[in-house]
Amino acid sequence: MDDLFARLRPRTVLAEGAVWLPGFALPEAETLHKAITQVSAVTPFRHFRTRMGQMSAAMTSCGACGWTADPSGYRYSRTDPQTGQPWPDMPDALRHLARRAAAEAGYEAFDPASCLINRYAPGAGMGLHQDRDEEYPQAPVVSVSLGVPARFSFGGLSRSDPKRIIELMDGDVVVWGGASRFAWHGVSPIRETFHPQTGAMRYNLTFRAINAALFRP
Ligand code: SIN
Ligand code: FE2
Repeated sequence: MDDLFARLRPRTVLAEGAVWLPGFALPEAETLHKAITQVSAVTPFRHFRTRMGQMSAAMTSCGACGWTADPSGYRYSRTDPQTGQPWPDMPDALRHLARRAAAEAGYEAFDPASCLINRYAPGAGMGLHQDRDEEYPQAPVVSVSLGVPARFSFGGLSRSDPKRIIELMDGDVVVWGGASRFAWHGVSPIRETFHPQTGAMRYNLTFRAINAALFRP
């Protein structure tokens, strides 16, 4: 069965520097779910309010820096503004998975300082954007999908460039760096379906290396 899936959904280069690894994280799914539960027990999921309104995906973070947003902008911080405490350490299982995925995509010695955890309920999505708050263009972004599927759009360096639209399933990993590090991407609103481990939810873990000069309180 696994072999069949691997053949039906092979490793795919989406663009120069961007690789889709279907099912790469599947063997560790249970460990990843436990890690998400542990992290979110300490620093809960919340919906950030930005200039554009409230984000539909709920978020939390672990690692040296977490990603936060408010009406004044986006940034990485060392403490969770909601709890006033440092973000929880990145569990080793998460760090190792991210490093292995990056290496598999051709990026050796990836050392993520942050793991952003997104939780999407049915109807939640993420508009087209670039990941550009890290100031560390030499490292890729490693993105792990868990739970119900999502339609993921992956474009080029201009917002209007043509997009590849792929269906990200439980355990899929996408790595984008090099010439694709600042590619525009987004997630269409999640459809109402069911996954035995997550119910109606989708989770996404994004691992990023961050310029240490941005490590702010
Ligand atoms: C993100 O771009 O931060 C999230 C991508 C995803 O949920 O697949
Ligand atoms: Fe992103």
